[in-house]
Amino acid sequence: MPQRCDVVVLLSGTGGNLQAMIDSLHERASPARICAVISNRADAFGLERAARAGIATHVLDHTAYEGREAFDAALIQAIDAFQPALVVLAGFMRILTPGFVRHYHGRLLNIHPSLLPLYKGLHTHQRVLDAGDAEHGCSVHFVTEELDGGPLVVQAVVSVELHDTPATLAQKVHAREHLIYPLAIRWFAEGRLTLDEHGASLDGEPLGPSGHLIRY
Ligand code: GAR
Repeated sequence: MPQRCDVVVLLSGTGGNLQAMIDSLHERASPARICAVISNRADAFGLERAARAGIATHVLDHTAYEGREAFDAALIQAIDAFQPALVVLAGFMRILTPGFVRHYHGRLLNIHPSLLPLYKGLHTHQRVLDAGDAEHGCSVHFVTEELDGGPLVVQAVVSVELHDTPATLAQKVHAREHLIYPLAIRWFAEGRLTLDEHGASLDGEPLGPSGHLIRY
């Protein structure tokens, strides 16, 4: 059996995605194992979810550091102490320095609540409604120096109905996030998902500009 893939999860908030990973990946035969959860906020509920699941937690308060470079250097040290094969951002609301992103090149994933490259940044559900879009969704991508950029791995598409509000869209999108993030982590852990100079590939086939597309 191939070696198990150790994963460090970074988060700042509720940890709904972390919970989905715990539920999906914490069985004996899983190819991935979450070895630590690190938060920049001591009050993040995600830390409680991790502790309940018996996962090591660590808090690194960004306000205690003078600037991004110093914080990211400390963050790298904290992460690397766990020697993970993969680092995943799960609602980690920090802009990362180029040095941090380069350090984890090819083994750093993020999830974002929109069909990237549409709607980078915040308030994606409201912006989709304001634009009158018929479809919305979420994206898992490898992280590069561009905020919410980087080669796409998998996207889940949901339809926008007339009665949708930012809250109902958030609910629909979160439910899909909780399916596609564990899926992408499994692919990586099984050695099926890779990043090279041509972009992201699954089973040796280029994933193309939208990544693997799933319509629920
Ligand atoms: C998720 O919806 C994720 O897509 C978003 O933060 C939320 C965290 O929820 N991330 C971003 O907006 C990154 N640009 P969670 O704490 O319940 O997993």
